Amino acid sequence: MARPNILVTRSIPDEAKRLLAKHCDIEQYDKHAAIPRPLFLKMLKDKDGLLCILTEKVNQETLDAAPRLKAVATYSVGYDHIDVKACGARKIAVMNTPGVLTETTADFAWSLLMAAARRVVEGDRFMRAGKYKAWDPMMLLGCDVFGKTIGIVGFGRIGQAVARRAAGFGMKIIYFDAQRIFPEVEREFGVHFRELKDLLREADFITLHCVLDAATHHLIDEDALSLMKPSAVLVNTARGPIVDERALVKALKSKRIAAAGLDVYELEPKMASGLSKLSNVVLAPHLASASLETRTKMGVMAAQGLIDVLANKKMPAHPVNPEVCQVLLAEA
Ligand code: DGY
Repeated sequence: MARPNILVTRSIPDEAKRLLAKHCDIEQYDKHAAIPRPLFLKMLKDKDGLLCILTEKVNQETLDAAPRLKAVATYSVGYDHIDVKACGARKIAVMNTPGVLTETTADFAWSLLMAAARRVVEGDRFMRAGKYKAWDPMMLLGCDVFGKTIGIVGFGRIGQAVARRAAGFGMKIIYFDAQRIFPEVEREFGVHFRELKDLLREADFITLHCVLDAATHHLIDEDALSLMKPSAVLVNTARGPIVDERALVKALKSKRIAAAGLDVYELEPKMASGLSKLSNVVLAPHLASASLETRTKMGVMAAQGLIDVLANKKMPAHPVNPEVCQVLLAEA
């Protein structure tokens, strides 16, 4: 049986590459930059499988350029860059990397929350600029985290991991999710459901963990920001377009809200005009899952999914479209 031919669109941890290479032939765009779209489409022409990341749009145009494509594994839990319906229509299996990045992402949401609340980055800049001349009771005052109220928007795996950490900070934990969890699970986590507007009014810290779809696009817009406390801190490690970034710049600039911690951007990797000039925002380049351990696990999981579908001809562990995988494998 011929070995499957795979396109890998970025450099990935060695362990994942070694695993994939045992079973498949690999062509790789091995750069620390996004693959140019025309090259991506060209390289896909003779490929059975694709290991991509979230900057590659897998849409109808992609599929048209890839007549042999049977499986797509994204190096991410989010798959809003993939047209899953179009893949289904072509009987292409889609896989993602759920679970392995939950705790790492929750840790990072907390890093942003703490850094924004306690002005860690401003303090760092202050030191490096040689501005620290004497201890001052009024210098770089932030706000307390312990005992405050945290509002978690999206109560899936990552939102729940954030809640477990919040319990250690003695916080009141409120959440909003399109699907309310069972009361016994709410009790187990010690969380209280709120409608979104109520959550925005009540929370001192608001952290976003919902998926990006039509319902959550600009969920945090000017109106939503206007409901928040002037002391509120907003954290986004989910997807940029959930926040209207221009409205956020206005709200931060006018001190309508106190601060923000952002890992994702509406037009990533670009930022809305004015954002980088503000001192009350902590900015990170989409690092929430960026620990060596987690990125290795994500790579291995994505590689194994492709191997399972294309070489082992078996159901992958993390299919996004299991019904399509079933049909594809039945025909293999
Ligand atoms: C994801 O997995 O969706 C993140 O955005 C990258 O880790």
